[in-house]
Amino acid sequence: MSNPFIHPNVTDAMLQSVARKTDAVVNVLRAAASEFQPIAFASSMGPEDMVLTDLIQRHGIDIDIFTLDTGRLPAETYELMARADKHYGMRPVTFFPRHEAVEEYVRKHGVNGFYDSVELRKACCAMRKVEPLKRALAGKKAWITGMRAQQSATRAELPVRQFDESHDIEKFNPLSDWTERDVWVYIQSNQVPYNALHEQFYPSIGCQPCTRAISPGEDIRAGRWWWENPESKECGLHVKA
Ligand code: ADX
Ligand code: SF4
Repeated sequence: MSNPFIHPNVTDAMLQSVARKTDAVVNVLRAAASEFQPIAFASSMGPEDMVLTDLIQRHGIDIDIFTLDTGRLPAETYELMARADKHYGMRPVTFFPRHEAVEEYVRKHGVNGFYDSVELRKACCAMRKVEPLKRALAGKKAWITGMRAQQSATRAELPVRQFDESHDIEKFNPLSDWTERDVWVYIQSNQVPYNALHEQFYPSIGCQPCTRAISPGEDIRAGRWWWENPESKECGLHVKA
């Protein structure tokens, strides 16, 4: 199957524009790593995260990489993790949820309790992502994400640098002004590994039960928590002050 996000005709103008944006991102990453140590990059293995992983590795920038394994990721994401480990010769540090919290949630609400209400969905994200993120960021002076402003209404004003009050450290979103096309032009022209689910029209991938394919023309995050309103579609990793 072909990847609908891979651009059929990458022009020189596109490559030049992405090269300029790439230089700017490398500058942000280098400056962040020299101002803040230790500093960590949160990778969900999404296309934006693969671009940042590629740049950190390619330029040998002193940034730790971690991933939050919720225990409910799609098989294709685990397959990508294994492939990326080989490609880059390194493995991000993995954080899992606390098993006691998962056991209690499942006993009370069932294995798929998150479909029953927005509150139970947020409670699941809280124990499977937000609490592990707190542990991943403990002792860090700053962190980096792969978020882009164009991803959703909730991210429209996303700055490249901000203070993250919920973790009390600096936060960098170096790809903030990148378009979906920029991301895929970079991936394509640098042979960056990516999730096979993108070939089945999944632009944005989270946990398997909370992600589905979109139709052409739909919003790129339409497949995430598709049963909820766009305004509630954040899992709590990125809380606005
Ligand atoms: S989410 O909040 O809706 O889940 P999204 O999938 O758009 O987030 O990812 C935005 C950024 O949050 C990613 O680029 C990454 O930096 C971070 N992130 C999201 N999920 C994870 C994860 N499972 N592990 C590590 N970082 C993550
Ligand atoms: Fe739970 Fe779904 Fe959130 Fe994953 S995305 S932590 S399965 S509610």
